[in-house]
Amino acid sequence: MSDSTGKVVGVNGNMVSVAFEGNVSLNEVGYVLLDEKRLKSEVIRIKGKKAELQVFEMTRGIGIGDKVEFTSELLAVELGPGLLGQIYDGLQNPLPQLAEKCGFFLDRGVYLSALNENTLWEFTPGARVGDTVKRADSLGTVPEGIFKHQIMVPFNLYDIYKIKSIAEAGKYKVKDTIAEIEDSEGKVISLTMTFQWPVKRPINAYAERLKPGEPLVSRYRIIDTFIPVARGGCYCIPGPFGAGKTVLQQNTSRNAEVDIVIIAACGERAGEVVETLREFPELIDPRTGKTLMERTIIICNTSSMPVAARDASVYTAVTLAEYYRQMGLDILLLADSTSRWAQAMREMSGRLEEIPGEEAFPAYLESVIASFYERAGIVKLNDGRIGSVTIGGTVSPAGGNFEEPVTQATLKVVGAFHGLSRE
Ligand SMILES: Nc1ncnc2c1ncn2[C@@H]1O[C@H](COP(=O)(O)OP(=O)(O)OP(=O)(O)O)[C@@H](O)[C@H]1O
Ligand SMILES: [Mg+2]
Repeated sequence: MSDSTGKVVGVNGNMVSVAFEGNVSLNEVGYVLLDEKRLKSEVIRIKGKKAELQVFEMTRGIGIGDKVEFTSELLAVELGPGLLGQIYDGLQNPLPQLAEKCGFFLDRGVYLSALNENTLWEFTPGARVGDTVKRADSLGTVPEGIFKHQIMVPFNLYDIYKIKSIAEAGKYKVKDTIAEIEDSEGKVISLTMTFQWPVKRPINAYAERLKPGEPLVSRYRIIDTFIPVARGGCYCIPGPFGAGKTVLQQNTSRNAEVDIVIIAACGERAGEVVETLREFPELIDPRTGKTLMERTIIICNTSSMPVAARDASVYTAVTLAEYYRQMGLDILLLADSTSRWAQAMREMSGRLEEIPGEEAFPAYLESVIASFYERAGIVKLNDGRIGSVTIGGTVSPAGGNFEEPVTQATLKVVGAFHGLSRE
């Protein structure tokens, strides 16, 4: 926690201007204090001693003079066993637990731990005292669904470490210490099964990036025959309203030959998400005979939820995908719809009074979309295993006009184009 604080000097929709004391950095998380509530926000612009924050909650009731606390930490997700099968909002709050706490109408300022801290995981050590390890090296495994979840050295430790102690095989909670490692200067760091990683920074703890070569089998005959998607590549599904984008994605999520599916429902109607949530636990995975939910993560930020969290939700989803890729698994990330995410960017850009680009989208729209899709990829890990993240995003251009900026920006970066028409 940093001791930098500030005071609200302006509110414009979900953007809050803050005059601050101390040091504040870009993309840092801050909390706007409103009565007893703490509303999570992210710093998106700093000018002199004034910062602009996007608040991930409704800003109703925030007034001039309200206090703001800064954390000096970037917006991050919690990584560790127990992510699979979860339903999160854009900020990685588990929605079922949130509903238990607040009822059907979510309160502002309630943030829950992303991983269940009481679950006991059967840990099997995979390294010995005296071994040297570096970031992303495996310390052991725990079974998670049908996979062996690797407990890795956190990706934000860049030194070479010596293992001082490691837990024996047995049951542990995620926050229990399972190893102690010593860095080159003799400082001892104790590790648990979880750590955090900032969502906007790609996870790059692998040996090399490979060129996507083989196709990802979606089991849609027409797609696999004529317009295949590369494993570790990216593709988009543009189409007008009601053309079948969501249905196509949902079917792919059930049938595609991948290990893990992450669904980011970004700004879509709540009804569609409810359908997915109802169906998934009942669907049986043909490969394992268990429910499909066991190898699925749903990140859900519907059209009725605050706009700023849409931005967070796509980054949260891709970071979780990259984390599982570090275990040598194939992940398919389906984002529905990237247009709604672009709209959120447009809204923020307008509030920041930036000079608008085409159709009032920000001038950096293309680079942001490109850097999102470029997080897809097939990689060779440090131990030689191969993992991949494939990204498929739907685009909903108004009136089915593929000439608009979001579709065009997406087409420039993706490898396959599954355009749908209403006919
Ligand atoms: N392959 C198909 N065959 C028959 N009906 C379909 C098919 N695909 C979609 N539909 C029907 O079309 C309707 C709209 O589909 P869907 O919700 O996928 O559209 P969408 O492109 O996601 O729309 P929006 O842009 O509004 O999100 C669905 O209710 C579904 O019943
Ligand atoms: Mg849809």
